Amino acid sequence: MATGVNIDSAVELIINSKFAIAFTGAGISVESGIPPFRGKDGLWSKYDPNVLDLNNFFLNPIDSWKVIKEIFYDFFGAAKPNAAHFALSEMEKMGLIKAVITQNIDNLHTDAGSKEVYEFHGNSRMLVCPYCGHNYLTSEVNLNDIVPLCNQCHGVLKPDFIFFGESIPALAYQKSVEAAEKADLVIIIGSTGEVVPASMIPSVAKQNGAQIIEINPEKSLFTSTITDVFLQGKATEMMTQLINELKKSKI
Ligand code: APR
Repeated sequence: MATGVNIDSAVELIINSKFAIAFTGAGISVESGIPPFRGKDGLWSKYDPNVLDLNNFFLNPIDSWKVIKEIFYDFFGAAKPNAAHFALSEMEKMGLIKAVITQNIDNLHTDAGSKEVYEFHGNSRMLVCPYCGHNYLTSEVNLNDIVPLCNQCHGVLKPDFIFFGESIPALAYQKSVEAAEKADLVIIIGSTGEVVPASMIPSVAKQNGAQIIEINPEKSLFTSTITDVFLQGKATEMMTQLINELKKSKI
């Protein structure tokens, strides 16, 4: 469990930072009802990760879409931001963090009001046609079709998040690396650190001298390698404590 000493150290680091950023993973959305990918109750213990393999998607779009719709639209779509997402958005308004780099595709940072959000793995709001490049908002498409098709060229639409085997969206990558190079503090929330290149982002910051605060109920690959202050606990509990202390120290 995070001790008062750790919370105090984290608050001090945040207040003294000039360019703090957050780096979030699936764990920040767990308390919004979205399970993480890895671990005992993770999505990949129930579903075949092959549905997000690009080649498999093009070979078996009907089977893939059935599962993709269930996980990423029926299930994720109903989720609402939690106290940790709102605390990050408040910290941005207070000028205490400059950007959120997220591996999540669930849109919950934006829904919570965060403005500077770099979606490292894309997002589920948009669908793209891989054949003609036409983009659609999810709301413009009938997700109950066996496979949603492009109005323009009738190609199979693909969610605008990255599948295994795809590269990171160029703009999100560029902005994330730039922010990591500038950062003097990174707050990592709810990530195992097992997925590259995303997990390199906090390391880039660390190499440039940034301090690292990490929030996670479990140790991750970051904990014993780059983390300076480990707040062991759930995202909502730790972020609520942090934001309350930060508000007090601003008065
Ligand atoms: N609060 C904070 N962290 C939590 C909570 C919680 N309430 N519950 C679980 N966690 C932590 C877990 O201990 C774990 O370290 O969240 C982490 C989730 O790990 P992963 O599922 O591996 O998520 P992430 O690191 O974001 O995965 C990266 O993998 O499949 C890809 O593209 C997918 O973006 C995803 C990427």
